[in-house]
Amino acid sequence: MPRIRPSTFRKALAIDKALPFLLPECRSIAAAKQELQWIKQECHTKRQVFEFCKLRRNHYPLQYLLKSQPFGPLDISCKRGVLIPRWETEEWTMDLAQRLVSNSELRLVDLCTGSGCIALLMKHLRPKLTVNAFDCSPLAISLASQNAQKLNIHVQLGLQNILDDSAAAALPDFDIITCNPPYIPHSTFVKETSTSVKLYEPKLALLGSFEFYENLVKTWLSKTDAFVYEVGELSQCTYVQNKIAQDSILSKLWRVGFKFDSNHRIRVVYGYKQANTTVDWSKIFQDFGELKH
Ligand SMILES: C[S@@+](CC[C@H](N)C(=O)[O-])C[C@H]1O[C@@H](n2cnc3c(N)ncnc32)[C@H](O)[C@@H]1O
Repeated sequence: MPRIRPSTFRKALAIDKALPFLLPECRSIAAAKQELQWIKQECHTKRQVFEFCKLRRNHYPLQYLLKSQPFGPLDISCKRGVLIPRWETEEWTMDLAQRLVSNSELRLVDLCTGSGCIALLMKHLRPKLTVNAFDCSPLAISLASQNAQKLNIHVQLGLQNILDDSAAAALPDFDIITCNPPYIPHSTFVKETSTSVKLYEPKLALLGSFEFYENLVKTWLSKTDAFVYEVGELSQCTYVQNKIAQDSILSKLWRVGFKFDSNHRIRVVYGYKQANTTVDWSKIFQDFGELKH
């Protein structure tokens, strides 16, 4: 990443004394000015503006300072200890919701719900859905519940370790599962994850490799007709594809596809049952991504 020129810092200083603090994270004067405007709207005193800007210089996430992040048409409250919703997740969630007909009375469960962003957006855009959402973090469930209340969106939230097989066994069946699990392998986290994420976002929400995809095939597939799981790497998609393809029963029942995001990075592995379902999933998922099995 190119270093910021001293002349850019001087220019920023001449505009506003707080602006240079924002340059390391924002990289350009235009972006820093926009961020300063948001910070000023949130703060009551000049001193607080400076404190916020200094936190930004130390890579503190803007969303934790401003206490929210837009997610589709929703404004999702954010709090330290719970993952900040990402545009990549928003993108596939919007796409999925738009594919479900507006009056479909399907049962959706959102696993690893965090702030509740996926569950709340799905229910907001498709109010006839029945939505359950689970997370093992009390902080996440508490924030998701605050978000549901603030936005007046009815979803059923529960504290649950979704890797625990007995958790799934105790639940009724669903039509579709959505999940954005922790999926960053430790080595990638150390080498490639940004300082801001490393320092301030919860590792419980980030670190993982194949365990949630293994758990999908072993446990949650039997409870649903369709699934959409976010991934960080192609190997996580092929893991699910291979596990289904190599099983004589699952391979006949399921189709599996991969979806890229608009930044051309692999983002989702999805699947649906080919027959005996309440809706025609092949129509819903047509051109959602690329079918591989
Ligand atoms: C990548 S975050 C996704 C949060 C939210 N769905 C989003 O897209 O912003 C993963 C979430 O999984 C939760 N989590 C981690 N391990 C879990 C487990 N074993 N059972 C349930 N939730 C878990 C974390 O607390 C975190 O909220």
